[in-house]
Amino acid sequence: MVTRVLAVWVVAAALAACDMGPKSAAGFRLPDGDAERGRESFVGLGCHSCHGVEGVDIPEPLTAGPVRITLGGDVIRIKTYGELVSSVINPSHRIAPYAGPDAVTEEGESVMRVYNEVMTVQQLIDLVAFLQSHYRVVPPEYTYPRYGY
Ligand code: HEC
Repeated sequence: MVTRVLAVWVVAAALAACDMGPKSAAGFRLPDGDAERGRESFVGLGCHSCHGVEGVDIPEPLTAGPVRITLGGDVIRIKTYGELVSSVINPSHRIAPYAGPDAVTEEGESVMRVYNEVMTVQQLIDLVAFLQSHYRVVPPEYTYPRYGY
C-alpha cells in the first residue's frame, strides 16, 4: 500500500516536471485586480448576456445570448486565476464540463465570444478578481477517493 502511494507520487511528480516546457504557466503571476471594477467590466463587455454570477445583482442584458451559464458559487476546489484567464481569453481550450449542448458549435468550439481584440489587460485582471471572489470552496463529502483497494 505504502509503495503504491509512493509510486503515485513519483508519477505525479514526473508529470508535474513535464509541465515545465516552454508552454508551462510556471512563473505566471497577475497583479491584484479590483473586483468592483471587474463587475463593471463584466456588464460593460456584455458578459452578462450569457452569464449571471451567483449571489450578484447584475442588470438584465439588452439582448440575451445563446446560453445562460451562472458563474461562481460552490466548487470543490479553488478556481485558479490560470483557469479563469484561460476560460476568458481561450474559451475553447477547455469547455466547462457542465455546459450543455448549446455551449458549443458543431465543430466543438465554445460559443463564448472571444474578447482578445477589445479587452484591456486591466479589464481581464479585474474580471478575474471579481469572478474569483464569488467562488466558494466546499469540500466534497468524502475525504478519500473510493477506489476499493
Ligand atoms: C455569447 C455567450 C457568452 C459571452 C458573451 C461570454 N461567455 Fe463566458 N462562457 C460561455 C459559454 C457557452 C461557456 C461554457 C463553454 C466554455 O467553457 O467555453 C462559457 C464559460 C465561461 C467561463 C468558464 C466557466 C467554468 O466553470 O469553467 C468563464 C470564467 C467565463 N465564461 C467568463 C466570461 C467572461 C468574463 C465574459 C465577458 C468578458 C464572458 N464569459 C462572456 C458563453 C459566453
